[in-house]
Amino acid sequence: MNVGVIGSGVVGQVLGAGFISRGHEVKLGTREPGKDTVKAWVAKNGAKASAGTFEETAKFGELVVLATLWDGTKSAIQLAKPESFAGKVVIDSTNPLDFSKGAPPALSLGWNTSAGEEVQRLLPKARVVKCFNTIGNAHMVDPRFPGGPPDMFIAGNDAEAKKKVTEVCAAFGWPGTIDLGGIESARYLEPLAMVWILEYFRTGSPNHALKMLRK
Ligand SMILES: NC(=O)c1ccc[n+]([C@@H]2O[C@H](COP(=O)([O-])OP(=O)(O)OC[C@H]3O[C@@H](n4cnc5c(N)ncnc54)[C@H](OP(=O)(O)O)[C@@H]3O)[C@@H](O)[C@H]2O)c1
Repeated sequence: MNVGVIGSGVVGQVLGAGFISRGHEVKLGTREPGKDTVKAWVAKNGAKASAGTFEETAKFGELVVLATLWDGTKSAIQLAKPESFAGKVVIDSTNPLDFSKGAPPALSLGWNTSAGEEVQRLLPKARVVKCFNTIGNAHMVDPRFPGGPPDMFIAGNDAEAKKKVTEVCAAFGWPGTIDLGGIESARYLEPLAMVWILEYFRTGSPNHALKMLRK
């Protein structure tokens, strides 16, 4: 499958490399395809890796991953052109973080909307699934913890799209995907990411992950 990853930061690079490691072709989308970090990522990831503009990347992807800084997300989508995402599964990994008062950040929106819902509104013809936002990049692919694999929480309006994303998660080492319903449940997943983030700032370590215990 061709996967387009919008955003060449750490999350885009990690998830892009994850898809390549599972045999997919990946284009990493960026405002600056010629920049050194992007060239280095392409060189490191071999023949299945390429880079392009946001628009080239969104058009390339049969599945598209949104891995942008929240404040740049609307602009990235506009540069990619919403029509480029029509009918496609879009994994939204963003968290609407506000660092204006320093770190740890706060959420810049919530309660009655979420980044996931805003992305779905910006991409009305795409099938947006919130995913990968509640785990640090170090453990997005092949998470290994003494307590077993953590759980991935997802939300989205389209059942087929969530099935596809669940398969991606399983291939990435996340057998437990918990579907919290429609994209409006991103209102709860983005605050849940704050639980992970506050623990990161408390301990200085990214080596924790979330799991629902059952009996
Ligand atoms: N870091 C983590 O461990 C983690 C974990 C879970 C979720 N997340 C969320 O995942 C997303 C990506 O995280 P990250 O750490 O990879 O972020 P990042 O490095 O801060 O930014 C990712 C990319 O966003 C694009 N971007 C930034 N400002 C932009 C603008 N004004 N217009 C258009 N594009 C812009 C840039 O793409 P180009 O430079 O390529 O143009 C940048 O590389 C964020 O929403 C974050 O909250 C992060």
